Amino acid sequence: MTNTMVNAKTLNLGGDLSVRRIGLGTMRLADGPGRPADPTAAPVWTPPADRDAALALLREAVELGVQLIDTADAYALGGGEELVGEALHPYREDVVVATKVRVARPSAGEWVPLGHPAYLRQQAELSLRRLRTDRIDLLQLHRVDPTVPLEDQIGALKQLQDEGKVRHIGLSEVTVEQLEAARAVAPIAAVQNLYNLAARDHDLVVDYAERHGITFLPFFPVAMGAHAAPGGAVAEVAAELGATPAQTALAWLLRRSPALLPIPGTTSAAHVAENLAALDLALTADQTTRLNTLAA
Ligand SMILES: NC(=O)c1ccc[n+]([C@@H]2O[C@H](COP(=O)([O-])OP(=O)(O)OC[C@H]3O[C@@H](n4cnc5c(N)ncnc54)[C@H](OP(=O)(O)O)[C@@H]3O)[C@@H](O)[C@H]2O)c1
Repeated sequence: MTNTMVNAKTLNLGGDLSVRRIGLGTMRLADGPGRPADPTAAPVWTPPADRDAALALLREAVELGVQLIDTADAYALGGGEELVGEALHPYREDVVVATKVRVARPSAGEWVPLGHPAYLRQQAELSLRRLRTDRIDLLQLHRVDPTVPLEDQIGALKQLQDEGKVRHIGLSEVTVEQLEAARAVAPIAAVQNLYNLAARDHDLVVDYAERHGITFLPFFPVAMGAHAAPGGAVAEVAAELGATPAQTALAWLLRRSPALLPIPGTTSAAHVAENLAALDLALTADQTTRLNTLAA
């Protein structure tokens, strides 16, 4: 028996936004040739050297069927959001834009926690302008600032929601305890944590999100490209499926939980199409088990 399971292709973010379960992470649409392999280390500091190519990629991604675009105020110091606004405004009805606030970038090498409520609200105002919208679909707290009470940070996002400037609130890199504490202050629609088939530290958060109708946006879903590479266990299963390793890694995530909506980052429209096609891929239970061993 193969026990193949077809994954749901959409989910309801926040209960009211139907989105296809493969999105696009846009952090890598920054800087130029020679960008670092780990873009979170540094810099993600300047807008893309080839702006027209980045704009074209965003537009093509939406044409291909991507419905959730993830960005942040910290990417290219606001340049990432400007790019999304320029490429996609006026927004299609079915496009959901997620952004993040809380990380200050005083220099190319620094990602500094800054969770003061006034700063969060100011950054959200700037995000609204750069994204050319009057309401952000999903505003995520990029990290919890340990020096500011969590309720004050979530409170700032809640205030923006009450003012009609934010539709849904999300968190990033949080534990179940932080998620629960945040939910006592405001409804939390999404959580964005580092998660892929070999990085399973947040298994409990995935399970919690699924139980509570919270969307989980795994970042680094293809391990910054490692799971897209030829060779290794992912490629072995991919060959059996007649799929690519990247698609196989994404299909594992889609099967892991119906709450998951991976946001692979790419600068290539062909890879966007390839990643979306992972929605049609069905892993067998045996293949899933073999991929599970990569986490060990
Ligand atoms: N919340 C946070 O703190 C946080 C932190 C980091 C990232 N993020 C979000 O997560 C998103 C994803 O992270 P990421 O882009 O760093 O890592 P990733 O999605 O795991 O990997 C991206 C890398 O994989 C390659 N790739 C993607 N699809 C491929 C395919 N089909 N075939 C071959 N290679 C493929 C890309 O190269 P090509 O360009 O050649 O396709 C790129 O080098 C970011 O864009 C950002 O939105 C959030």
